[in-house]
Amino acid sequence: MELKNLFSPGKIGNVQIKNRIIRSATWVAKATNEGYVTDDLINLFKDLADGGTGLIISGYLAVDPSGAATHKMACLYDDSYISRQKELVKTVHDFSEVKIAAQIAHTGNGAFIFGNTNFEPVGPSPMINRVLKKPCRELTTEEVRQIIKNFVDTGRRAYECGYDMVQIHGSHGYLLSDFVSPYTNKRTDEFGGSYQKRSKILVDIYNQLREEVDKNFPIIIKLNTKDYLQDGLTLDEAKEMAKILIETGYDAIEPSSGRYDLKFSKRKTFPSVMIKSGINQNYFLQNVLKLKPIMKGRPIILQGGVRDPLIMEDFLKDDIADFIALSRPLIYEPNLPNRWKTGDLTPPLCTNCNGCLTVAATDTLYCIVKNKLEEK
Ligand SMILES: Cc1cc2nc3c(=O)[nH]c(=O)nc-3n(C[C@H](O)[C@H](O)[C@H](O)COP(=O)(O)O)c2cc1C
Ligand code: SF4
Repeated sequence: MELKNLFSPGKIGNVQIKNRIIRSATWVAKATNEGYVTDDLINLFKDLADGGTGLIISGYLAVDPSGAATHKMACLYDDSYISRQKELVKTVHDFSEVKIAAQIAHTGNGAFIFGNTNFEPVGPSPMINRVLKKPCRELTTEEVRQIIKNFVDTGRRAYECGYDMVQIHGSHGYLLSDFVSPYTNKRTDEFGGSYQKRSKILVDIYNQLREEVDKNFPIIIKLNTKDYLQDGLTLDEAKEMAKILIETGYDAIEPSSGRYDLKFSKRKTFPSVMIKSGINQNYFLQNVLKLKPIMKGRPIILQGGVRDPLIMEDFLKDDIADFIALSRPLIYEPNLPNRWKTGDLTPPLCTNCNGCLTVAATDTLYCIVKNKLEEK
């Protein structure tokens, strides 16, 4: 069967993407300890570009030294990072028609989760970082404004590096998603309270970044859309927030959900990458269905355990989603899109074991299942 929709071109803003397959942002622990691009990192992007993915979203890039808590996380918070980032972007662009987005982030209260232990967890309100049971310090209003500026400066640098678009990381319990969530944001200044105020940080980042880059440079967002907590963000509220973001001008939304840190607590949540079996495929489908009507024609990206190419084809054909994003399957098989395109439609070899996430925390990212097979 031909995957006509999956391999037809699509657009985000004015950027043409050769097919509907996106590599969802994936931190790979391959930067230097100081966050500079390495040859190893460039080679990984080369393999992805060669493997047929239409749009590759980078792993999260830190917008500020205080938001670079993850082990060997690449950074872009000052100009010294630009030249090697440019080389990485050029490597991808050498493959005709492959596009690349920079995901920019601040790890916030997510400090300590994957590696570096000398970072202070910060967030919208005081809370406990559940992984190391450390307190998280509330940012002052002035500090919030400075972090917005850092997102803007980093987004502008990504533009200067030649990235085709930028993705704001508003998910998974890192800083921006903590502002979005009523579970973590108890502020009483302009950045807390109603959902409108909790979205303000995202609105300000968009508006200020838009001033710094070409009007045709897409600014997209990966957005937490549900906390799966009694007093957390609901899908209804996330829909209202998404409406604000689309009205503001965001060019696409990739719904996500959950918090990494609650994986380690008794409270039940739904961290986006912790699904371990293929049974729970397409686990953010409800989130996409909820947001789709407010998108005003801008693309919505489905990610989260999306595995079966025939089902992907149906999602696209039925206009449920505009793009499909994958993370773990492309770790095991960077050539997966080409494999599907040439007619081998068997599902990804990735077993969803999350072993790659564990090894990346202390070493560098690789697929443990594939490695074991190759060793045999
Ligand atoms: C090793 C690893 C690193 C990840 N790093 C990021 C990241 O930097 N930014 C992000 O938004 N999501 C990150 N994610 C989440 C993925 O982008 C994706 O949302 C999630 O894995 C679900 O997609 P999948 O089922 O196709 O893997 C990461 C996931 C894994 C497994
Ligand atoms: S380690 Fe497990 S989850 Fe990660 S890519 Fe390999 S099979 Fe998939």
